[in-house]
Amino acid sequence: MSGHGSPIPMTSRPCGPLKGEAHVPGDKSISHRSLILGALCVGETHITGLLEGEDVLDTAKAMRAFGATVTDHGGGEWTVQGVGVGGFAEPDQVIDCGNSGTGVRLIMGAAATCPITVTYTGDASLNGRPMGRVTDPLTLFGTQSFGREGGRLPMTVVGAAEPIPARYEVPVPSAQVKSAVLLAGLNAPGQTIVIEKEATRDHTERMLQGFGAELSVEDTDEGRVITLTGQPELTPQSIVVPRDPSSAAFPVCAAIITPGSDVLVPNIGLNPTRAGLFTTLQEMGADLTYENMREEGGEPVADLRAKFSPDLKGIAVPPARAASMIDEYPVLSVVAAFASGVTDMQGVKELRVKESDRIDAMAKGLRAAGVSVDEGDDWWKVHGLGHGNVPGGATVASQLDHRIAMAFMVMGMATQKPMSVDDGSPIATSFPIFEWLMGNLGAQLVRTNG
Ligand code: S3P
Repeated sequence: MSGHGSPIPMTSRPCGPLKGEAHVPGDKSISHRSLILGALCVGETHITGLLEGEDVLDTAKAMRAFGATVTDHGGGEWTVQGVGVGGFAEPDQVIDCGNSGTGVRLIMGAAATCPITVTYTGDASLNGRPMGRVTDPLTLFGTQSFGREGGRLPMTVVGAAEPIPARYEVPVPSAQVKSAVLLAGLNAPGQTIVIEKEATRDHTERMLQGFGAELSVEDTDEGRVITLTGQPELTPQSIVVPRDPSSAAFPVCAAIITPGSDVLVPNIGLNPTRAGLFTTLQEMGADLTYENMREEGGEPVADLRAKFSPDLKGIAVPPARAASMIDEYPVLSVVAAFASGVTDMQGVKELRVKESDRIDAMAKGLRAAGVSVDEGDDWWKVHGLGHGNVPGGATVASQLDHRIAMAFMVMGMATQKPMSVDDGSPIATSFPIFEWLMGNLGAQLVRTNG
Protein backbone atom coordinates (compact mmCIF):
# COMPACT_ATOMS: atom_id res chain seq x y z
CA MET A 1 0.00 0.00 0.00
CA SER A 2 1.31 3.40 -0.90
CA GLY A 3 2.24 5.70 1.91
CA HIS A 4 3.23 2.80 4.15
CA GLY A 5 6.77 2.42 2.76
CA SER A 6 9.63 4.91 2.52
CA PRO A 7 9.17 7.85 0.17
CA ILE A 8 10.95 7.52 -3.19
CA PRO A 9 12.16 10.94 -4.39
CA MET A 10 12.38 10.99 -8.19
CA THR A 11 13.81 13.36 -10.80
CA SER A 12 13.03 13.67 -14.50
CA ARG A 13 15.63 15.37 -16.69
CA PRO A 14 15.04 17.03 -20.07
CA CYS A 15 15.58 14.28 -22.63
CA GLY A 16 15.96 13.64 -26.33
CA PRO A 17 13.20 12.21 -28.49
CA LEU A 18 10.94 9.54 -27.03
CA LYS A 19 10.65 6.70 -29.52
CA GLY A 20 9.13 3.24 -29.64
CA GLU A 21 6.08 1.38 -28.35
CA ALA A 22 4.55 1.87 -24.91
CA HIS A 23 2.56 -1.14 -23.70
CA VAL A 24 0.71 0.35 -20.75
CA PRO A 25 -0.99 -1.83 -18.09
CA GLY A 26 -4.61 -2.97 -17.89
CA ASP A 27 -7.46 -0.63 -17.11
CA LYS A 28 -7.77 0.10 -13.39
CA SER A 29 -11.54 0.62 -13.39
CA ILE A 30 -12.22 -2.59 -15.28
CA SER A 31 -9.68 -4.54 -13.20
CA HIS A 32 -11.41 -3.66 -9.89
CA ARG A 33 -14.81 -4.51 -11.36
CA SER A 34 -13.59 -7.84 -12.81
CA LEU A 35 -12.49 -9.04 -9.37
CA ILE A 36 -15.61 -7.79 -7.57
CA LEU A 37 -18.10 -9.12 -10.12
CA GLY A 38 -16.13 -12.37 -10.33
CA ALA A 39 -16.53 -12.70 -6.54
CA LEU A 40 -20.30 -12.19 -6.93
CA CYS A 41 -20.75 -15.16 -9.31
CA VAL A 42 -20.98 -18.82 -8.48
CA GLY A 43 -18.23 -20.44 -10.55
CA GLU A 44 -14.94 -19.35 -12.05
CA THR A 45 -14.25 -16.04 -13.78
CA HIS A 46 -11.09 -15.91 -15.86
CA ILE A 47 -9.29 -12.57 -16.27
CA THR A 48 -6.36 -11.68 -18.52
CA GLY A 49 -4.54 -8.35 -18.62
CA LEU A 50 -5.45 -7.48 -15.02
CA LEU A 51 -3.68 -4.37 -13.74
CA GLU A 52 -1.35 -5.67 -11.04
CA GLY A 53 -1.02 -2.28 -9.31
CA GLU A 54 -1.35 -1.90 -5.55
CA ASP A 55 -4.92 -0.57 -5.75
CA VAL A 56 -6.19 -3.64 -7.58
CA LEU A 57 -4.12 -6.05 -5.46
CA ASP A 58 -5.83 -4.57 -2.38
CA THR A 59 -9.21 -5.31 -3.97
CA ALA A 60 -8.08 -8.90 -4.68
CA LYS A 61 -7.13 -9.26 -1.01
CA ALA A 62 -10.52 -7.89 0.03
CA MET A 63 -12.38 -10.37 -2.18
CA ARG A 64 -10.46 -13.21 -0.48
CA ALA A 65 -11.48 -11.79 2.92
CA PHE A 66 -15.15 -12.01 1.82
CA GLY A 67 -14.72 -15.70 0.95
CA ALA A 68 -13.87 -15.72 -2.79
CA THR A 69 -10.90 -17.73 -4.03
CA VAL A 70 -8.72 -15.35 -6.03
CA THR A 71 -5.71 -16.90 -7.78
CA ASP A 72 -2.80 -15.19 -9.53
CA HIS A 73 -1.59 -17.39 -12.39
CA GLY A 74 1.19 -14.97 -13.41
CA GLY A 75 1.48 -12.50 -16.28
CA GLY A 76 -1.80 -10.73 -15.59
CA GLU A 77 -3.85 -13.94 -15.70
CA TRP A 78 -6.15 -14.39 -12.70
CA THR A 79 -9.13 -16.51 -11.73
CA VAL A 80 -11.88 -15.80 -9.22
CA GLN A 81 -14.11 -18.48 -7.71
CA GLY A 82 -17.04 -16.42 -6.52
CA VAL A 83 -19.49 -16.84 -3.67
CA GLY A 84 -22.60 -15.55 -5.49
CA VAL A 85 -24.76 -12.43 -5.10
CA GLY A 86 -25.42 -11.90 -1.37
CA GLY A 87 -22.84 -14.56 -0.47
CA PHE A 88 -20.10 -12.38 1.04
CA ALA A 89 -18.90 -13.80 4.38
CA GLU A 90 -18.06 -11.46 7.24
CA PRO A 91 -14.31 -10.73 7.15
CA ASP A 92 -12.45 -11.31 10.40
CA GLN A 93 -10.02 -8.47 9.67
CA VAL A 94 -10.32 -4.81 8.77
CA ILE A 95 -10.51 -4.32 4.97
CA ASP A 96 -7.57 -2.08 4.03
CA CYS A 97 -8.03 -0.55 0.57
CA GLY A 98 -4.72 1.31 0.64
CA ASN A 99 -4.87 4.35 -1.66
CA SER A 100 -7.93 3.29 -3.64
CA GLY A 101 -11.17 5.26 -3.61
CA THR A 102 -12.57 3.06 -6.35
CA GLY A 103 -11.71 -0.09 -4.41
CA VAL A 104 -13.27 0.96 -1.12
CA ARG A 105 -16.38 2.59 -2.59
CA LEU A 106 -17.25 -0.30 -4.90
CA ILE A 107 -16.59 -2.89 -2.20
CA MET A 108 -18.70 -0.95 0.32
CA GLY A 109 -21.55 -1.08 -2.18
CA ALA A 110 -21.17 -4.77 -2.94
CA ALA A 111 -21.08 -5.70 0.78
CA ALA A 112 -23.81 -3.26 1.91
CA THR A 113 -26.75 -5.54 1.25
CA CYS A 114 -25.16 -8.63 2.84
CA PRO A 115 -25.95 -9.32 6.52
CA ILE A 116 -22.36 -8.67 7.62
CA THR A 117 -20.45 -5.96 9.46
CA VAL A 118 -17.28 -4.70 7.82
CA THR A 119 -14.67 -2.15 8.93
CA TYR A 120 -12.78 -0.30 6.19
CA THR A 121 -9.58 1.71 6.28
CA GLY A 122 -6.91 3.02 3.92
CA ASP A 123 -3.76 5.13 3.74
CA ALA A 124 -3.54 8.78 4.80
CA SER A 125 -4.87 9.95 1.42
CA LEU A 126 -7.88 7.60 1.37
CA ASN A 127 -8.69 8.24 5.04
CA GLY A 128 -9.05 11.94 4.21
CA ARG A 129 -11.55 11.42 1.38
CA PRO A 130 -15.35 11.74 1.68
CA MET A 131 -17.23 8.46 2.02
CA GLY A 132 -20.62 9.97 2.88
CA ARG A 133 -21.29 10.24 -0.85
CA VAL A 134 -21.49 6.42 -0.80
CA THR A 135 -22.76 5.65 2.69
CA ASP A 136 -25.64 8.17 2.39
CA PRO A 137 -27.33 6.36 -0.52
CA LEU A 138 -26.53 2.99 1.06
CA THR A 139 -28.82 3.90 3.99
CA LEU A 140 -31.72 3.71 1.48
CA PHE A 141 -31.13 -0.07 1.35
CA GLY A 142 -31.18 -0.31 5.17
CA THR A 143 -27.41 -0.13 5.71
CA GLN A 144 -25.87 1.73 8.68
CA SER A 145 -22.41 3.24 8.85
CA PHE A 146 -20.22 4.62 11.61
CA GLY A 147 -17.21 6.59 10.49
CA ARG A 148 -15.07 9.50 11.58
CA GLU A 149 -16.14 13.12 11.35
CA GLY A 150 -17.06 14.19 7.83
CA GLY A 151 -17.78 10.58 6.81
CA ARG A 152 -14.10 9.61 6.75
CA LEU A 153 -12.47 6.22 7.10
CA PRO A 154 -11.86 4.17 9.19
CA MET A 155 -15.53 3.31 9.06
CA THR A 156 -17.71 0.37 10.01
CA VAL A 157 -20.63 -0.51 7.76
CA VAL A 158 -23.42 -2.74 9.04
CA GLY A 159 -24.99 -4.44 6.03
CA ALA A 160 -28.76 -4.59 5.57
CA ALA A 161 -30.13 -7.99 6.66
CA GLU A 162 -33.35 -7.41 4.70
CA PRO A 163 -32.37 -4.94 1.98
CA ILE A 164 -34.94 -2.88 0.13
CA PRO A 165 -34.28 -1.59 -3.40
CA ALA A 166 -33.43 2.09 -3.84
CA ARG A 167 -34.01 4.93 -6.26
CA TYR A 168 -31.17 7.41 -6.18
CA GLU A 169 -30.21 10.49 -8.13
CA VAL A 170 -26.43 10.86 -7.92
CA PRO A 171 -25.73 14.46 -6.83
CA VAL A 172 -22.12 14.60 -8.11
CA PRO A 173 -20.72 13.19 -11.36
CA SER A 174 -19.17 10.03 -9.88
CA ALA A 175 -18.92 6.57 -11.37
CA GLN A 176 -17.82 5.28 -8.00
CA VAL A 177 -21.04 6.43 -6.30
CA LYS A 178 -23.21 5.16 -9.18
CA SER A 179 -21.42 1.82 -9.10
CA ALA A 180 -21.64 1.44 -5.31
CA VAL A 181 -25.42 1.90 -5.48
CA LEU A 182 -25.78 -0.54 -8.38
CA LEU A 183 -23.63 -3.16 -6.65
CA ALA A 184 -25.72 -2.76 -3.48
CA GLY A 185 -28.87 -3.11 -5.61
CA LEU A 186 -27.67 -6.51 -6.81
CA ASN A 187 -28.74 -8.14 -3.55
CA ALA A 188 -31.97 -6.17 -3.03
CA PRO A 189 -35.20 -7.71 -4.33
CA GLY A 190 -36.95 -5.67 -7.05
CA GLN A 191 -35.64 -2.76 -9.08
CA THR A 192 -32.89 -0.38 -8.03
CA ILE A 193 -32.83 2.81 -10.07
CA VAL A 194 -29.86 5.16 -10.36
CA ILE A 195 -30.11 8.46 -12.19
CA GLU A 196 -27.08 10.45 -13.24
CA LYS A 197 -27.37 13.93 -14.75
CA GLU A 198 -23.98 13.72 -16.42
CA ALA A 199 -22.78 10.48 -17.96
CA THR A 200 -19.77 9.02 -16.14
CA ARG A 201 -17.72 5.95 -17.08
CA ASP A 202 -20.14 3.12 -17.75
CA HIS A 203 -18.00 0.04 -17.10
CA THR A 204 -20.23 -1.17 -14.24
CA GLU A 205 -23.33 -1.07 -16.43
CA ARG A 206 -21.61 -2.82 -19.36
CA MET A 207 -20.02 -5.45 -17.16
CA LEU A 208 -23.19 -6.17 -15.14
CA GLN A 209 -24.95 -6.81 -18.45
CA GLY A 210 -22.03 -8.99 -19.55
CA PHE A 211 -22.31 -11.03 -16.33
CA GLY A 212 -26.01 -11.61 -17.09
CA ALA A 213 -27.78 -9.06 -14.86
CA GLU A 214 -30.99 -7.48 -16.12
CA LEU A 215 -29.98 -3.83 -16.51
CA SER A 216 -31.31 -1.14 -18.82
CA VAL A 217 -30.17 2.40 -19.51
CA GLU A 218 -32.46 5.12 -20.78
CA ASP A 219 -31.50 8.68 -21.70
CA THR A 220 -34.29 10.96 -20.45
CA ASP A 221 -34.79 14.65 -19.61
CA GLU A 222 -33.92 13.74 -15.99
CA GLY A 223 -30.61 12.26 -17.13
CA ARG A 224 -29.33 8.70 -17.62
CA VAL A 225 -31.74 6.37 -15.87
CA ILE A 226 -30.22 2.98 -15.01
CA THR A 227 -32.59 0.26 -13.88
CA LEU A 228 -31.23 -2.93 -12.33
CA THR A 229 -33.31 -5.95 -11.36
CA GLY A 230 -31.97 -7.32 -8.09
CA GLN A 231 -30.96 -10.81 -7.03
CA PRO A 232 -29.86 -12.16 -10.41
CA GLU A 233 -27.72 -15.24 -10.75
CA LEU A 234 -24.55 -13.81 -12.27
CA THR A 235 -22.71 -16.02 -14.77
CA PRO A 236 -18.90 -16.28 -14.60
CA GLN A 237 -17.11 -14.61 -17.50
CA SER A 238 -13.87 -14.65 -19.40
CA ILE A 239 -12.60 -11.07 -19.34
CA VAL A 240 -9.83 -9.50 -21.40
CA VAL A 241 -9.03 -6.20 -19.67
CA PRO A 242 -8.24 -3.45 -22.22
CA ARG A 243 -5.21 -1.22 -21.60
CA ASP A 244 -5.89 1.87 -19.53
CA PRO A 245 -6.46 5.18 -21.39
CA SER A 246 -5.66 7.01 -18.13
CA SER A 247 -2.21 5.36 -18.07
CA ALA A 248 -1.76 5.85 -21.84
CA ALA A 249 -2.18 9.58 -21.15
CA PHE A 250 1.34 9.79 -19.68
CA PRO A 251 3.43 8.46 -22.61
CA VAL A 252 1.07 10.22 -25.05
CA CYS A 253 1.50 13.62 -23.37
CA ALA A 254 5.23 13.04 -22.87
CA ALA A 255 5.65 12.44 -26.63
CA ILE A 256 3.60 15.53 -27.49
CA ILE A 257 5.83 17.88 -25.46
CA THR A 258 9.25 16.24 -26.02
CA PRO A 259 11.07 17.36 -29.22
CA GLY A 260 11.43 14.77 -31.97
CA SER A 261 9.22 12.14 -30.31
CA ASP A 262 7.15 9.48 -32.07
CA VAL A 263 5.50 6.95 -29.75
CA LEU A 264 2.94 4.23 -30.45
CA VAL A 265 0.69 3.23 -27.53
CA PRO A 266 -1.11 0.06 -28.67
CA ASN A 267 -4.47 -1.48 -27.66
CA ILE A 268 -5.98 1.40 -25.72
CA GLY A 269 -9.60 1.19 -24.59
CA LEU A 270 -11.41 4.21 -26.05
CA ASN A 271 -14.79 3.93 -24.37
CA PRO A 272 -16.31 7.39 -25.06
CA THR A 273 -16.85 7.89 -21.31
CA ARG A 274 -13.05 7.77 -20.90
CA ALA A 275 -11.50 9.31 -24.02
CA GLY A 276 -12.02 13.06 -23.46
CA LEU A 277 -8.32 13.83 -23.05
CA PHE A 278 -7.44 12.64 -26.53
CA THR A 279 -10.13 14.83 -28.14
CA THR A 280 -8.87 17.78 -26.08
CA LEU A 281 -5.25 17.22 -27.13
CA GLN A 282 -6.30 17.11 -30.79
CA GLU A 283 -8.21 20.39 -30.33
CA MET A 284 -5.01 21.91 -28.89
CA GLY A 285 -3.21 20.97 -32.09
CA ALA A 286 -1.43 17.82 -30.90
CA ASP A 287 -0.21 15.37 -33.52
CA LEU A 288 -2.21 12.45 -32.13
CA THR A 289 -3.81 9.83 -34.34
CA TYR A 290 -5.83 6.66 -33.85
CA GLU A 291 -4.57 3.67 -35.84
CA ASN A 292 -6.16 0.27 -36.32
CA MET A 293 -9.56 1.25 -34.79
CA ARG A 294 -11.47 -1.87 -33.82
CA GLU A 295 -13.88 -3.30 -31.26
CA GLU A 296 -12.80 -5.80 -28.58
CA GLY A 297 -15.03 -7.25 -25.86
CA GLY A 298 -17.72 -4.67 -26.68
CA GLU A 299 -15.33 -1.72 -26.19
CA PRO A 300 -13.75 0.48 -28.90
CA VAL A 301 -9.98 -0.03 -29.00
CA ALA A 302 -7.22 1.65 -31.06
CA ASP A 303 -3.47 2.13 -31.19
CA LEU A 304 -2.55 5.73 -30.38
CA ARG A 305 0.33 7.42 -32.18
CA ALA A 306 1.62 10.61 -30.54
CA LYS A 307 4.29 12.83 -32.05
CA PHE A 308 6.06 15.93 -30.83
CA SER A 309 3.75 18.90 -31.38
CA PRO A 310 5.58 22.25 -31.28
CA ASP A 311 2.56 24.49 -31.98
CA LEU A 312 0.08 23.65 -29.24
CA LYS A 313 -2.63 26.22 -28.47
CA GLY A 314 -4.44 26.73 -25.17
CA ILE A 315 -8.19 26.07 -25.36
CA ALA A 316 -11.32 26.19 -23.20
CA VAL A 317 -12.05 22.59 -22.28
CA PRO A 318 -15.84 22.10 -22.40
CA PRO A 319 -17.16 21.38 -18.86
CA ALA A 320 -19.47 18.72 -20.35
CA ARG A 321 -16.34 16.74 -21.21
CA ALA A 322 -14.98 16.76 -17.65
CA ALA A 323 -16.30 13.37 -16.54
CA SER A 324 -14.73 11.65 -19.55
CA MET A 325 -11.24 12.90 -18.65
CA ILE A 326 -11.47 13.56 -14.92
CA ASP A 327 -8.26 11.66 -14.09
CA GLU A 328 -6.36 13.30 -16.95
CA TYR A 329 -6.47 16.97 -15.88
CA PRO A 330 -3.12 16.81 -14.03
CA VAL A 331 -1.21 15.72 -17.13
CA LEU A 332 -3.32 17.97 -19.38
CA SER A 333 -2.24 20.94 -17.26
CA VAL A 334 1.37 19.98 -17.95
CA VAL A 335 0.73 19.95 -21.73
CA ALA A 336 -1.06 23.31 -21.29
CA ALA A 337 2.17 24.81 -19.86
CA PHE A 338 3.89 24.05 -23.21
CA ALA A 339 1.04 25.52 -25.30
CA SER A 340 0.72 29.15 -26.26
CA GLY A 341 -2.20 30.94 -24.61
CA VAL A 342 -4.50 29.97 -21.77
CA THR A 343 -6.03 26.56 -21.16
CA ASP A 344 -9.28 27.09 -19.27
CA MET A 345 -10.66 24.12 -17.31
CA GLN A 346 -14.13 24.71 -15.85
CA GLY A 347 -16.62 22.49 -14.01
CA VAL A 348 -13.97 20.37 -12.33
CA LYS A 349 -14.85 20.56 -8.62
CA GLU A 350 -14.40 16.78 -8.32
CA LEU A 351 -10.64 17.29 -8.79
CA ARG A 352 -10.57 18.64 -5.25
CA VAL A 353 -11.56 15.27 -3.70
CA LYS A 354 -9.34 12.83 -5.57
CA GLU A 355 -6.25 11.11 -4.10
CA SER A 356 -5.19 14.72 -3.42
CA ASP A 357 -6.76 18.11 -4.11
CA ARG A 358 -5.47 17.93 -7.67
CA ILE A 359 -6.04 21.59 -8.57
CA ASP A 360 -4.05 22.63 -5.51
CA ALA A 361 -1.30 20.04 -6.01
CA MET A 362 -0.81 20.86 -9.71
CA ALA A 363 -1.11 24.64 -9.27
CA LYS A 364 1.59 24.60 -6.56
CA GLY A 365 3.97 22.51 -8.68
CA LEU A 366 3.34 24.43 -11.92
CA ARG A 367 3.91 27.77 -10.18
CA ALA A 368 7.13 26.46 -8.61
CA ALA A 369 8.20 25.53 -12.16
CA GLY A 370 7.58 29.07 -13.42
CA VAL A 371 4.07 28.63 -14.87
CA SER A 372 1.25 30.96 -13.92
CA VAL A 373 -2.02 29.35 -12.76
CA ASP A 374 -5.34 30.94 -11.69
CA GLU A 375 -7.81 28.87 -9.72
CA GLY A 376 -11.27 28.90 -8.17
CA ASP A 377 -13.36 26.35 -6.36
CA ASP A 378 -14.32 24.44 -9.52
CA TRP A 379 -12.05 25.84 -12.21
CA TRP A 380 -8.45 26.60 -13.07
CA LYS A 381 -6.50 28.23 -15.88
CA VAL A 382 -2.96 27.50 -16.96
CA HIS A 383 -1.08 30.29 -18.77
CA GLY A 384 1.02 28.45 -21.34
CA LEU A 385 4.53 29.64 -22.09
CA GLY A 386 5.00 27.82 -25.40
CA HIS A 387 7.41 25.08 -26.31
CA GLY A 388 10.98 25.54 -25.05
CA ASN A 389 10.05 28.30 -22.59
CA VAL A 390 8.99 26.39 -19.45
CA PRO A 391 11.65 26.86 -16.76
CA GLY A 392 11.11 23.82 -14.47
CA GLY A 393 13.76 23.28 -11.80
CA ALA A 394 11.30 22.60 -8.95
CA THR A 395 10.69 19.84 -6.42
CA VAL A 396 6.99 19.16 -5.97
CA ALA A 397 5.03 17.36 -3.23
CA SER A 398 3.16 14.44 -4.81
CA GLN A 399 0.72 14.30 -1.84
CA LEU A 400 0.32 10.49 -2.01
CA ASP A 401 -1.16 10.90 -5.49
CA HIS A 402 0.15 8.74 -8.35
CA ARG A 403 -1.13 11.05 -11.07
CA ILE A 404 0.52 14.13 -9.55
CA ALA A 405 3.85 12.29 -9.38
CA MET A 406 3.60 11.03 -12.98
CA ALA A 407 2.43 14.41 -14.35
CA PHE A 408 5.51 16.18 -12.99
CA MET A 409 7.82 13.41 -14.21
CA VAL A 410 6.36 13.96 -17.70
CA MET A 411 6.84 17.72 -17.34
CA GLY A 412 10.55 17.33 -16.54
CA MET A 413 11.14 15.69 -19.93
CA ALA A 414 10.66 19.04 -21.71
CA THR A 415 11.36 21.82 -19.16
CA GLN A 416 14.60 23.80 -19.25
CA LYS A 417 15.70 22.35 -15.90
CA PRO A 418 14.81 18.98 -14.32
CA MET A 419 11.63 18.42 -12.28
CA SER A 420 11.56 16.39 -9.08
CA VAL A 421 8.88 14.93 -6.82
CA ASP A 422 9.38 14.23 -3.13
CA ASP A 423 7.75 10.81 -3.43
CA GLY A 424 7.16 8.69 -6.53
CA SER A 425 6.08 5.60 -4.55
CA PRO A 426 2.32 6.17 -5.19
CA ILE A 427 2.94 5.52 -8.91
CA ALA A 428 2.86 1.80 -8.04
CA THR A 429 -0.85 2.05 -7.22
CA SER A 430 -1.86 2.30 -10.88
CA PHE A 431 1.22 2.13 -13.15
CA PRO A 432 3.90 -0.05 -11.54
CA ILE A 433 6.02 -0.19 -14.74
CA PHE A 434 5.97 3.58 -15.34
CA GLU A 435 9.70 4.24 -14.79
CA TRP A 436 10.75 1.20 -16.82
CA LEU A 437 8.36 1.97 -19.68
CA MET A 438 9.25 5.66 -19.91
CA GLY A 439 12.96 4.81 -19.63
CA ASN A 440 12.64 2.41 -22.57
CA LEU A 441 11.20 5.24 -24.68
CA GLY A 442 14.21 7.43 -23.82
CA ALA A 443 13.10 9.35 -20.72
CA GLN A 444 15.67 10.12 -18.06
CA LEU A 445 14.00 9.30 -14.78
CA VAL A 446 16.09 8.64 -11.73
CA ARG A 447 15.42 7.82 -8.12
CA THR A 448 17.25 10.50 -6.23
CA ASN A 449 17.79 8.83 -2.85
CA GLY A 450 20.25 6.29 -4.27
C1 S3P B 1 -13.43 5.59 -11.17
C2 S3P B 1 -14.19 6.73 -11.12
C3 S3P B 1 -13.63 8.08 -10.99
C4 S3P B 1 -12.13 8.11 -11.25
C5 S3P B 1 -11.41 6.97 -10.60
C6 S3P B 1 -11.96 5.65 -11.12
C7 S3P B 1 -14.11 4.29 -11.31
O1 S3P B 1 -13.84 8.55 -9.66
O2 S3P B 1 -11.58 9.34 -10.82
O3 S3P B 1 -10.03 7.00 -10.85
O4 S3P B 1 -13.42 3.29 -11.64
O5 S3P B 1 -15.32 4.23 -11.10
P1 S3P B 1 -15.21 9.30 -9.23
O6 S3P B 1 -16.30 8.34 -9.24
O7 S3P B 1 -14.93 9.83 -7.84
O8 S3P B 1 -15.38 10.42 -10.22
